[in-house]
Amino acid sequence: MTGHDTQDVSGRGIDETGGRQYGKVTASASYGPSSVTLRDNRTGAEAELPILSSTEGGFDVIDMKPLSGDFNHLKTLDPGYPHTASTVSNITYIDGEKGILQYRGYPIEQLAEQSTFMETAFLLREGELPTQEQLGLFEQEMADNADVPDEVVDVLYAMRSKHPMAMISAAVMALADENPDRRVPPHHMIAKMPTIVANAFRISRGDDFMEPDKNRPYTERFLQMCFADEDGCYESSPVLTVAMDNIFILHADHEQNASTSTARTVVSTDVDPVAAIASGVNALWGPKHGGANQAVLQMLDEIGTVDRIPEFVARAKDKDDPFRLMGFGHRIYKNFDPRARIIKEHADSVLEALGVQDEKLAIARELEQIALKDEYFVARKLYPNVDFYSGIILRAMDFPPNMFTPIFEQGRIAGQVAQLEEVVGKPDPITRPYQLYQGPRRRDFVSMESRGIEDAIGTTEDHQPEPV
Ligand code: CMC
Repeated sequence: MTGHDTQDVSGRGIDETGGRQYGKVTASASYGPSSVTLRDNRTGAEAELPILSSTEGGFDVIDMKPLSGDFNHLKTLDPGYPHTASTVSNITYIDGEKGILQYRGYPIEQLAEQSTFMETAFLLREGELPTQEQLGLFEQEMADNADVPDEVVDVLYAMRSKHPMAMISAAVMALADENPDRRVPPHHMIAKMPTIVANAFRISRGDDFMEPDKNRPYTERFLQMCFADEDGCYESSPVLTVAMDNIFILHADHEQNASTSTARTVVSTDVDPVAAIASGVNALWGPKHGGANQAVLQMLDEIGTVDRIPEFVARAKDKDDPFRLMGFGHRIYKNFDPRARIIKEHADSVLEALGVQDEKLAIARELEQIALKDEYFVARKLYPNVDFYSGIILRAMDFPPNMFTPIFEQGRIAGQVAQLEEVVGKPDPITRPYQLYQGPRRRDFVSMESRGIEDAIGTTEDHQPEPV
């Protein structure tokens, strides 16, 4: 940004003087390329706020730290944070307009094509791809720490009638400890998560807990615990293992999404990072986030046949109907989600290799084509996201829909660990946003006898908040 460009902080347009206003504050770019001057038009006070740039381009951010002194009484309001960068991070880069996703600088397409989940997990944590020796040591460490204590097993059985995401969250919490000396190192959660996720699946369908087979590689170990019979017999399938590994890579990190920022918020209180991971699991469960993959399959089942697609598209566009096209839209991507592109390409080959014919794939394809041409979706830049096709592959692998979000978490654990390790022990402040209070003004307590008497409590009008 250069010269005198104005920045619209209100979304309300330009006033007659050419400045853009929000109440009485005008934000406009200063005379240099790297700062914004914020002026409080009530007092004339000004603050110079530096503009910080991303190493990759994309968008710049206004550093709000200097907003103190004369401006201490002013805070920013950005519900849902569509205009707020909550932190500085070196791990994952997304350009939502161009549909770019990179882990530590490496494009997701290259990682999906050429790396394994273990390599990607190492890369996310360490910042660099491992050498052969480093990878071997990391894989061994993951195998050595795949066991879970009895409390975890007990929790899984106790919660067997609940959704697997609830089981996983509770099982992860069973590993958390108040005493720093007894805590599980965060990266050992990458080792333990397959044991927890696979056994949530086993136990919820009525089978017994299965110990991890440490002689199998990471992803095969996970699949063996998922599908082995009670004697542990499981014939591995390279197609299935590679497809699963790929799904883990694609889900491994996604910068400050709802579950990651939840986990980072929780760990800012100095609690055990494992407890922060459990909070991330809870946030991921929601159908607007990781839970969308389960919701997509339910939606495709409900649509049933291609000829019913227009009915569902019309419902998605109807503002009086809460229905949304699941697997469409994203806070950041205003273009094709690159993960969806990769998963879509895999769907065909995986189904073919597994010999599965799923008519839902035809419905998904047709739905995608219709939505991509529909003015409503085009205008809002609503494209298929990662969850749109992943369920079809996971179902072909014999996972029921309630296991789709747990498998998302199984991949995401790598990113959660890297993101938490990035902040643990750093002198960052506790995450504690402000609010714009619009509740009742100060009033005196009303005795029980006087309640309900209008004069005593005042009229509703007295309690109306000031308009923003
Ligand atoms: N179907 C119909 N309309 C939609 C959809 C959808 N899936 N998504 C967004 N819109 C509309 C929305 O109603 C709004 O319209 P208007 O401007 O007329 O009010 C506009 O598009 C902008 O939507 P928004 O809700 O303000 O956007 P957001 O950034 O807050 O929400 C989202 C992003 C992912 C929560 C939302 O697109 C959605 O609910 N999608 C369906 C659920 C889904 O697939 N979630 C998985 C996301 S990818 C996995 C992950 O990383 O979590």
